[in-house]
Amino acid sequence: MSLIDVVVSDIVQETPTIKSFYLTLPDGKPVGHYSPGAHIDVVGPNSLTRQYSLCGRPDGEDAYLFAVKREEGGRGGSEALHELKIGDQLQVSAPRNLLQIAEDAEHHILVAGGIGITPMLSLARYMDVRDISFELHYYARSEEEAAFLPLLTEKCPDKLHAHLGVGREEQKQRLTETVEATPENTHLYVCGPEGFMDNVRTIAGKKLSEESIHFENFKPTEPEEAYENTEFDVELDGETYHVPADRSIVEVLNDAGCGIDTSCEEGICGTCIMEVLEGTPEHRDNVLTKSDREAGETMAVCVSRTKDPKLVLEYF
Ligand code: FES
Repeated sequence: MSLIDVVVSDIVQETPTIKSFYLTLPDGKPVGHYSPGAHIDVVGPNSLTRQYSLCGRPDGEDAYLFAVKREEGGRGGSEALHELKIGDQLQVSAPRNLLQIAEDAEHHILVAGGIGITPMLSLARYMDVRDISFELHYYARSEEEAAFLPLLTEKCPDKLHAHLGVGREEQKQRLTETVEATPENTHLYVCGPEGFMDNVRTIAGKKLSEESIHFENFKPTEPEEAYENTEFDVELDGETYHVPADRSIVEVLNDAGCGIDTSCEEGICGTCIMEVLEGTPEHRDNVLTKSDREAGETMAVCVSRTKDPKLVLEYF
């Protein structure tokens, strides 16, 4: 994964537990633009790499902005970022996008739970200035904990539906009403805590097709059943490599000098996805959509494997 050096140019305390960080290049110039919904890898002061959505205006001067919720009891990644000062240096990856706008949709529903508002910000701001039909449903515990609520209230008051302090059952009812009222050819995008996203996806799935529901989950999937690793061979560029049961495909390929980019190595960021030319992948990631999995033409080689004797892969 190639990284670029950036500097923290401003820090805003958005809520008691959420700070946002504005980034520029070391010479003070803007880092660049990106497609709405994109995220970056951020290498924090303690060398932990985490994925964060970019939440500025995708084509604006302050495009490179990400927000971090301080999580107690984690591995310390968010706490270290909360200690950053203006002028500190970080390294970030190029943007990647798992929440791309469906160009052919006639209406878009954005649903955010808590800190899950971050990717929705860039989507909402992009759609708003282009008169793309959308509505934004923002669920948060309270007004005080709803990061970026004043900005959204100012920029897109007609599109914003703030659901503050709503209990779980009421939440389900409101989500059901939202989904039932969707016009034809609607796509829904959701980000938030795992249980919240599961609820939204279940409710949305009663009306919308799997392909119309987009989500971003920066956490590895808990396997429903224990996987059993087997050994197999991988062919890449005419060379064959043996993958033993206790090693991942990407470990074997990179030990052999193949130079496959990786980041999370947990199947959640999409950096290591390769094309499958032959063989059937056993998908264990949380990046590919159901239709990607069924097609079997791509796989995240940091976690996914095969039960076949051999896979033939190609690096994009
Ligand atoms: S490195 Fe992130 S999905 Fe494989």
